[in-house]
Amino acid sequence: MKIGLLTSGGDCPGLNAVIRGAVLEGIIEHGDEFVGFRDGWRGVVERDYFPITRHDVRGLSKTGGTILGSSRTNPFEGEFGGPDNIQWLMDREGIDVIVAIGGEGTLTAARRLYDEGGIKVLGVPKTIDNDLAATDYSFGFDTAVQIATEAIDRLRTTADSHGRCMVLEVMGRHVGWIALHSGMAGGAHAILIPEQPQSIDQIVEWVLQVRERGRAPLVVVAEGFTLPEMTEAHSTKGLDAFNRPRLGGIADVLAPLIEERTGIESRATVLGHIQRGGEPTAYDRVLATRLGMAVVKAAHREEWGQMVTLRGTDIKTVSIHEATGSLNTVPQERYDEAKVLFG
Ligand code: F6P
Repeated sequence: MKIGLLTSGGDCPGLNAVIRGAVLEGIIEHGDEFVGFRDGWRGVVERDYFPITRHDVRGLSKTGGTILGSSRTNPFEGEFGGPDNIQWLMDREGIDVIVAIGGEGTLTAARRLYDEGGIKVLGVPKTIDNDLAATDYSFGFDTAVQIATEAIDRLRTTADSHGRCMVLEVMGRHVGWIALHSGMAGGAHAILIPEQPQSIDQIVEWVLQVRERGRAPLVVVAEGFTLPEMTEAHSTKGLDAFNRPRLGGIADVLAPLIEERTGIESRATVLGHIQRGGEPTAYDRVLATRLGMAVVKAAHREEWGQMVTLRGTDIKTVSIHEATGSLNTVPQERYDEAKVLFG
């Protein structure tokens, strides 16, 4: 069998481990051949690809990033986009299946290619945000949480030295899993996530409670969190909650507000892409490797239109439909559990 691999969307620690797992499973167990498309769907629609050998994946599971490159190209666009062109390319190159390793956008595109054009695709879920439905955890999430937790630990000592309030912004555009887990692990005094809007009055109350107990308050906020006071206009016009020009992320809005309302000197830290770079944790390497091996097994079972997924501790396959269309948000009970630890 000839298998085409691509990595698409924001990169994620563990992508290379998926590639290695797939290639080793395929070559050793089935005598497969592999090609890698460069920069996600761009490599498909611009016909930019190269053979991947066993030698190419040596020592790869510990490395960050993706040897294939990534982009947010839509496979339905461009000169050679769309199912007919892609099928033509697959026929010409003898490619039996395209394995798309990506998040919501990538998997939605893969699903459409399968539904609308009968393209043989398989999916591997990828997101540091852990926001994909139909998988219990995605690789990259554990690494991001580890990095964010280390940042909280480091902020705590400098916060204590100066008696300051620290506001750490972590990734999570639509869901707050990284904030929730790192905040719990690092002992944050408030965790703010997109699923749970909190007023500035509530945040100030949490911060003041911490100060009354003689501690330096530590707030972890997911980038997608908004204050109810912030209207659509605040985001679209780049204004903060006081209609002032908004320069940075939500942490840069919150820290000055907290300082104004509490009188506690406050600082914002935006962790940014550090959460996505560097080596994956051992957990993510193992999960990613298993998913890579499993997707090749699924190809040999001809389970087109499916995605490999983590269910409990087992790797299963589900329809890509199940993984797209809705997000894996933080449930109320998980947030309530974390809230007990605030203050
Ligand atoms: O979806 C993963 C993610 O890391 C989000 O948390 C974040 O909002 C986004 O990607 C950043 O994307 P980019 O790298 O394109 O700035």
